[in-house]
Amino acid sequence: MATKGKGSKKAVVRVGKSLARRRAAASKVEPAKGKLGVMVVGMGAVATTMIAGVEAIRRGLAKPVGSLTQMGTIRLGKRTDNTSPLIKDFVPLADLNDIVFTGWDIFNDNVYESAAHAQVLKPDILKKLKPYLETIKPMPAVFDNYYVKRLHGTHVKKGKNKLDLAQQLIEDIRAFKKKVNRVVMIWCGSTEIFMEPTAVHQSIAAFEKGLEKSDIGIAPSQIYAYAALKEGVPFANGAPNLTVDVPAMVALSKKNAAPICGKDFKTGQTFMKTVLAPAFKARMIGVSGWFSTNILGNRDGEVLDEPQSFKTKEESKLGSLEYIFQPEMYPDLYSDIYHKIRINYYPPRGDEKEAWDNIDIFGWLGYPMQLKVNFLCRDSILAAPIALDLVLFLDLAKRTPELRSLGIQEWLSFYLKSPQSAPGLYPEHDLFIQSMKLKNTLRHIMGADLITHLGLEYYD
Ligand SMILES: NC(=O)c1ccc[n+]([C@@H]2O[C@H](COP(=O)([O-])OP(=O)(O)OC[C@H]3O[C@@H](n4cnc5c(N)ncnc54)[C@H](O)[C@@H]3O)[C@@H](O)[C@H]2O)c1
Repeated sequence: MATKGKGSKKAVVRVGKSLARRRAAASKVEPAKGKLGVMVVGMGAVATTMIAGVEAIRRGLAKPVGSLTQMGTIRLGKRTDNTSPLIKDFVPLADLNDIVFTGWDIFNDNVYESAAHAQVLKPDILKKLKPYLETIKPMPAVFDNYYVKRLHGTHVKKGKNKLDLAQQLIEDIRAFKKKVNRVVMIWCGSTEIFMEPTAVHQSIAAFEKGLEKSDIGIAPSQIYAYAALKEGVPFANGAPNLTVDVPAMVALSKKNAAPICGKDFKTGQTFMKTVLAPAFKARMIGVSGWFSTNILGNRDGEVLDEPQSFKTKEESKLGSLEYIFQPEMYPDLYSDIYHKIRINYYPPRGDEKEAWDNIDIFGWLGYPMQLKVNFLCRDSILAAPIALDLVLFLDLAKRTPELRSLGIQEWLSFYLKSPQSAPGLYPEHDLFIQSMKLKNTLRHIMGADLITHLGLEYYD
């Protein structure tokens, strides 16, 4: 057995102190008391699949497959400790029974009608849930066809300018706050046209002036996000829209302790990319080309068929490889990749998207090889548990003093195609690093030891 000297005594004292500090931090995470109100912007395929799924799970009709918060475990301590509780038993998350849904849409179909239209879930399960789903009716939306060209909404708010519209959303939030204990907002609305930050996005004051002048640089998604953050409500963005990815929103998020994260649910093709690309890089396998194409026929596909909305999606999907491969660090392997992405609207497929990837790789002495991925996925089935997890974790962040005023919650990058990070810090796209970061954040806020996977002590 190894003998322990003076040095280790000091180390024990140090560890003891930091443990005490961490235990104190954990005791400050506020419990999830009462009802969690979830305000969903856009009650289409993803939103209705999430809402119907949560109700089905509450009634014991289904299991929460795909949800890390509901099914995932977290290892605590050494491998020999055999301690791996469920995440939901380790951190104080809202119980699914305490979730209350509401939302907005540009069509006034209730959630049952909208889910039936989306055709993601089968009629038999929808029929069982119908009485509940019919009770959720969207509020009139803030919408402008300039930003989503393929849609023409009828259930839309009118206002004298964008500030007035933001005020109307704030009134909606305040009315809902009276019925629940805490609120989170999530954008499950359509992909807007491609937009870049302008002067109006640089500070809260400039943004508010822009709202008053109905500046064209402010899209509807930003009016919702502004209303949420202004009210101290955390905001998640399931679409690739610019929305909170601007200094004004980051500042407002910090100021009002309303957490935000990145954007665009990481579901099908990009999910696979952020698994495969780190594997090639870990083994120093070169990549010369990556061609990705998709067919899908839901309303999202119809919106993405319009070039300006497609550009927004394309930018979001393109980013991951560049960051994972770090071509400037590995020029021989990754500086000359031809990366192409196509999304084709093909109505017969509905939500049952099919994605193909052809990856041209090269190995020892530059010998070429190929990998083909054919993913027959169901878009909204993959996205719904992500939306649920983001809502639950953002609510947790809001109740965690150490996290809530940070603004960006980088530890939630795990769920997103376009992670958001501090200015000057490159985003982390590797799914396994993201997963480790998420779990270590949970350990940290609960005062548990972080896991480094070093493991030398097992051989001591
Ligand atoms: N399904 C996936 O796997 C997946 C993955 C990543 C991202 N996304 C993104 O999530 C979003 C939702 O996808 P979906 O398949 O549910 O699309 P969908 O078209 O079925 O639903 C979007 C809904 O948003 C509504 N809407 C549009 N603008 C609005 C506004 N300003 N206010 C309120 N409602 C508005 C539409 O009327 C529609 O009902 C899309 O932007 C999509 O790109 C989806």
